[in-house]
Amino acid sequence: MRKLYIIGIGSGNPEHITVQAIKALNDVDVFFVLNKGSSKSDLIRLRKEICERYIDDPSYRTIEVVDPQRDPSIASYSLRVQAWHQERAVIYEDLIGRELKDDECGAFLVWGDPSLYDSTLRVIDHIIARGIVHFDHEVIPGITSIQALAARHKITLNGIGESICITTGRQLTPGLVASSENVVVMLDGKCSFREVLDQDVEIYWGAYVGSDKEILLSGRLTEKLETIEVARSAAREKNGWVMDTYLLRNPSARRS
Ligand SMILES: C[S@@+](CC[C@H](N)C(=O)[O-])C[C@H]1O[C@@H](n2cnc3c(N)ncnc32)[C@H](O)[C@@H]1O
Repeated sequence: MRKLYIIGIGSGNPEHITVQAIKALNDVDVFFVLNKGSSKSDLIRLRKEICERYIDDPSYRTIEVVDPQRDPSIASYSLRVQAWHQERAVIYEDLIGRELKDDECGAFLVWGDPSLYDSTLRVIDHIIARGIVHFDHEVIPGITSIQALAARHKITLNGIGESICITTGRQLTPGLVASSENVVVMLDGKCSFREVLDQDVEIYWGAYVGSDKEILLSGRLTEKLETIEVARSAAREKNGWVMDTYLLRNPSARRS
């Protein structure tokens, strides 16, 4: 039976890979790499570096596929993403069927951890449901960008007994921050923290966390937001892409 590993590789630091991931990497015959365009080539480079560094026998194969574009003619965001996942499923299914022999092992290397804002497992579920190619699969956890951010700022994400809300820039509202002690924001292309004007809120922000391009900034949100915006846009200009994550901590939302 074919085997497929979905391996979390951490979010930018090749030393964040786990021993379990290294063992799985060494079992793999074929790596499937999704190419998301030239501006994200740093992300492909990290995957290559991980393979070269941790795999003893370099006889593995790497197959690169171009990521399909989302169809802009589908108005609903969730339907657009679902259609895109289906399209990815067909591409992966074809690759698995064509490139992986019955006794071979393939892998998708997933940025951070596969459980957090990543569609690989959903796409794998679509392939299984289609029933055309058959394989066993195993998920190997990785260090998320949230864990890396907290470690680099030397903070806990929550105060004692508090909750943490993890969301996207699209979903961040002043009301959410007013009612949540700790909000972690990912996938924010628009510096949505600008909408939060509460004087008490603190921000712990990081871009390219864990990598050699890392930028960390923290402090009272109202005092730091401009510095963060400038740093983010300069970094994006310089590198062609940016990935940032931040924690908003609101002490006035705390319940006694
Ligand atoms: C598609 S999600 C993938 C998340 C990933 N699965 C994880 O476990 O962190 C991409 C988002 O993760 C965050 N991210 C990933 N790597 C990062 C890094 N090195 N530094 C800061 N944020 C990062 C950003 O918010 C980015 O928009």
